[in-house]
Amino acid sequence: MGRYVVAITGASGSVYGLRLIEQMLLAGHEIVYATTPAGRDVMGYEVGFDVPPEQPGAALLEFLELDTSLPLRHACADDLFDPIASGSHRMDGMIVCPASMGFCGSVANGLASNLPERTADVMLKEHRPLIVVPRETPLSLIHLRNLTTLAEAGAIVVPAMPAFYTRPTTLDEAVNFVVGKVMDVLGVSHDLFARWGE
Ligand SMILES: Cc1cc2nc3c(=O)[nH]c(=O)nc-3n(C[C@H](O)[C@H](O)[C@H](O)COP(=O)(O)O)c2cc1C
Repeated sequence: MGRYVVAITGASGSVYGLRLIEQMLLAGHEIVYATTPAGRDVMGYEVGFDVPPEQPGAALLEFLELDTSLPLRHACADDLFDPIASGSHRMDGMIVCPASMGFCGSVANGLASNLPERTADVMLKEHRPLIVVPRETPLSLIHLRNLTTLAEAGAIVVPAMPAFYTRPTTLDEAVNFVVGKVMDVLGVSHDLFARWGE
């Protein structure tokens, strides 16, 4: 199965990233979850999960009520020696979910100033899948230009925009729609929403 990086940055919507990690693990993939300091702060505030210094992989599996033997590990934003910082390390793709406008601006301008930014930079230079799930509204011209630059460089932009034709009645269903669209782009089968016409 595949090996993917899921980066959680400081945009609102860490619940999307956590659901994605859960579903990718359950689909049999190996996941490295990378967090920025703002990503950790916002995740703690929004969903109540604080990345602990000890055993952060096992802690997230417990938080998600998943089998603690699943292949999940954490990568720190300031650890540029982590394997995912190098193009020679085999990873099948990266999903930045949620992606802050700060992150998008940095990567669009080649800054690579922390591990998630560097890993996204690596994905683009190696022509591996980079999926960016931005969460901001309204979008300034600078945001739009940065997202355009990312798309031009090969990233796939999947905005955190739930649809309503599936008639969601809970926030969970709205979250599942966005996560399902990301998994569709990756070609990972899922049962997160009912497909139109089926
Ligand atoms: C509660 C909270 C919610 C935020 N939501 C967003 C958001 O939806 N989109 C965004 O681009 N930034 C958002 N921010 C701002 C980012 O966290 C901030 O720009 C940060 O510097 C991003 O850093 P990072 O890209 O290294 O994670 C939010 C901040 C806080 C405290």
